[in-house]
Amino acid sequence: MLLSIESSCDDSSIAITDIASKNLVFHQKISQDSEHTPYGGVVPEIASRLHATQLPLILEKTKPFLKQVKAVAVTYTPGLSVTLLEGVTMAKALCLMLNIPLIGVHHLKGHIYSLFIEKEAIFPLDVLLVSGGHTLLLKAKNFAEMDICAKSLDDSFGESFDKVAKMLNLTYPGGPIVESYAQKGNPMRFAFTIPLSHYKDVAFSFSGLKNSVRLAIEELKQQKNELSLQDKYDICASFQKTAIAHLVQQCGKFLQYSKNLNFAVVGGASANLCLREALQELLGQNRHLYFAPLEFCSDNAAMIGRVGVEAYLNGVFSDLDLQVIPRTSEIL
Ligand code: KG4
Ligand code: ZN
Repeated sequence: MLLSIESSCDDSSIAITDIASKNLVFHQKISQDSEHTPYGGVVPEIASRLHATQLPLILEKTKPFLKQVKAVAVTYTPGLSVTLLEGVTMAKALCLMLNIPLIGVHHLKGHIYSLFIEKEAIFPLDVLLVSGGHTLLLKAKNFAEMDICAKSLDDSFGESFDKVAKMLNLTYPGGPIVESYAQKGNPMRFAFTIPLSHYKDVAFSFSGLKNSVRLAIEELKQQKNELSLQDKYDICASFQKTAIAHLVQQCGKFLQYSKNLNFAVVGGASANLCLREALQELLGQNRHLYFAPLEFCSDNAAMIGRVGVEAYLNGVFSDLDLQVIPRTSEIL
């Protein structure tokens, strides 16, 4: 069995995965949404302190399995340095105590392997990764070779949902609530421009769209002080439609040059059902589209454990002086 830990942002999570069958034996995650809602985003110091209390509570429940654990996998990059440190420190302590090897896992590789929890991996694969920290297109050839082909020039897709939610005084994280408001709104009421429509290369950008939303809200406030619930629904619907149209447009460009038959969308924001439908339509019948189960789209230790199993089977281990790396490296 392999124990895995995730603490790169605001989810404290630990999993135990059976190495031979790749089945999940134990998995728990404690999110911190309500603690960060007053700030409209994650406050690193609060997140770090919550990991320090929550991770040991989850670890306690893995006690019956500890004797059978053969390695510990932990997210060490990218993420918030103070929160990554909580997981990495716990992982090192466990490795020393149990005298077993450590496996440092790249968080983005974890998101890609969220597709393969309790399953065999499928490669080669083109991947759209949409999370709070990243919006990327990648080519994944196999476990060891994954290249970033395109990324956001500014904000990420998920982050833009968080910022729109904050402007409308909605809860954090913004993705689920903006999606649910959008279902009740008129997507044609506000004509936001699709970003980078005439851009030659494949890239993403959400800060211009975010500003257009801010200006639309300010204009409404000048007219009537308070936004009605319907105003908020319509803003969310118009914003979401434009943000998804932008992703689809850039993926369309990317797919013109890729012969790969397998395409996947992963990351917290891949839970968005309108995005899933729009990508399904883009890909049509000629390519296979893969999604992670909804419960494994956002950050979790099960996906880190799935990478850990692959690393263990390939003999890829880390030194016990593994350091956290907050920035995103180009190599996964
Ligand atoms: O992957 P994740 O849990 O954390 C990072 O690695 O960043 O992704 C969290 C992000 C947040 O920005 C959240 O608002 C967004 O995913 N998200 C969504 C949806 N559910 C979560 N964005 C759009 N629509 C959703 N349904
Ligand atoms: Zn993530």
